[in-house]
Amino acid sequence: MREEDGIKKICEEVIERIRPDEREKNKVHAVIDFIIAKINKKASEMGIEAHAISVGSTARNTWVSGEADIDIFIMFPAGISEKDLKEKGLALAKSISDRYEERYASHPYIHAYFYDAEGREHEADLVPCFAVKDASELKSAVDRTPFHNEYIVRRIPGLEEEVLLLKQFLKSAGIYGSEQRRKGFSGYLCELLILRYSSFVELLRNASNWKYGEKIDIEGRGKYKGEGKDPLIVIDPVDPNRNVAAAVSLDSFCKLIDAARDFLACPDASFFFPARKKEMSEAEFVKLVKERGTEFVMVLFEAPEVVEDILFPQLRKAEASVSNLIERNEFRIYRSDVSVEGSKAFLIFELLVWNLPPVKKHIGPPVTSKYHSEQFKRKYASQSLLIENGRYVVEVKRKYTDVVGLLKNELRSCSLGKDVSASIDRGYEVLRTEEISFFDGLGSFFRDYFDFCFSTVRLECS
Ligand code: UTP
Ligand code: MN
Ligand code: MN
Repeated sequence: MREEDGIKKICEEVIERIRPDEREKNKVHAVIDFIIAKINKKASEMGIEAHAISVGSTARNTWVSGEADIDIFIMFPAGISEKDLKEKGLALAKSISDRYEERYASHPYIHAYFYDAEGREHEADLVPCFAVKDASELKSAVDRTPFHNEYIVRRIPGLEEEVLLLKQFLKSAGIYGSEQRRKGFSGYLCELLILRYSSFVELLRNASNWKYGEKIDIEGRGKYKGEGKDPLIVIDPVDPNRNVAAAVSLDSFCKLIDAARDFLACPDASFFFPARKKEMSEAEFVKLVKERGTEFVMVLFEAPEVVEDILFPQLRKAEASVSNLIERNEFRIYRSDVSVEGSKAFLIFELLVWNLPPVKKHIGPPVTSKYHSEQFKRKYASQSLLIENGRYVVEVKRKYTDVVGLLKNELRSCSLGKDVSASIDRGYEVLRTEEISFFDGLGSFFRDYFDFCFSTVRLECS
């Protein structure tokens, strides 16, 4: 029982710090009302048949204090064309704000800035969508959102604080958000998990025993046939064909399991507010790599100007294809990763073997295959032949004895993804450990590369 009380006390303490107070709530709700009224007014002035609704965490009181992003959907009749939706939707959204950016991932929308009575800035996503009749009949990628909203708004009252605890816990573990960079848990997924388990702690208790392929089906109507390929399956209550947790990677899934076990074994507020890890310095990095005895090779280039959700899959594709090139040439990779920090994008390879002797085996045909043997012997007439395991073998001179030379010459032959490839064509650098000069963000990238964030918390627990 005392253990339970301890957890309860910590959770209450955390809630106090992350729950928006009345002032904040009122301000956010006022800005939402202002935006909706303005969109609706403009729509009728412009003769556009559309109306705005509030969705997302600010519509459900499940946003973490200070991090409100306002989500407004502009609903168009399902009968209009995609082109009309885009043109009218964006024009309408732009017409109501002085400062905005057009953003585009799978779907175009406007990210705008608004100011409340005290001049404080609020950010809002203004997203045009089709008002379809049923969530399974969607016409655009975001048409489910109003259905999600309706589902959660009706059920979440009373559980908002549990959602906040979960969001904050995942944020500090670096696995909140379904974007391609993180491949973690979205806000909607957090809300569903809380609905399923009724509380944050009950969710953690269950999560600490999760197995690969864990399936959660609140409404018991799941038709989703992804079994085997997703670590976590959470059937969308508004569309039984869809897995809400499809974006959760195996490692994000396992980070939650691991953090849940650690927290339950040793509850502490630091799980929600980890000490900010110090950035790694260049000197520290070089020293650490020397101790490890590996070599780092970085492919560095200008980050293409596309959104991260498009960029990250391309970077991972490039990582796989370059890894393949490296291993095909008999070097050995220990680990690799990719990232974007500021205006720079990079692939990084940590190598076990980065230099090779000039000699290389070239394997020929089986000796028993008479025709091919004659051809082979004619071609390599001037060289000494070996017979190994029933095949001819000649020794040839290796083209690349060092991985940097290989990458400088052959990188472009890899399939890198459209935008990454175009950027690399404009220029790139291949740098080895000591040549990597640290730019903004690289110090914290390497800090994370060498350590998952909760290990320090765990060590402090007796
Ligand atoms: P958010 O990413 O803002 O999540 O998307 P959230 O649930 O509000 O959580 P936090 O507290 O801000 O982190 C809000 C809703 O809008 C949809 C999402 O699918 C989600 O249901 N959305 C938002 C889109 O589908 N596309 C967009 O471009 C923006
Ligand atoms: Mn939001
Ligand atoms: Mn948003």
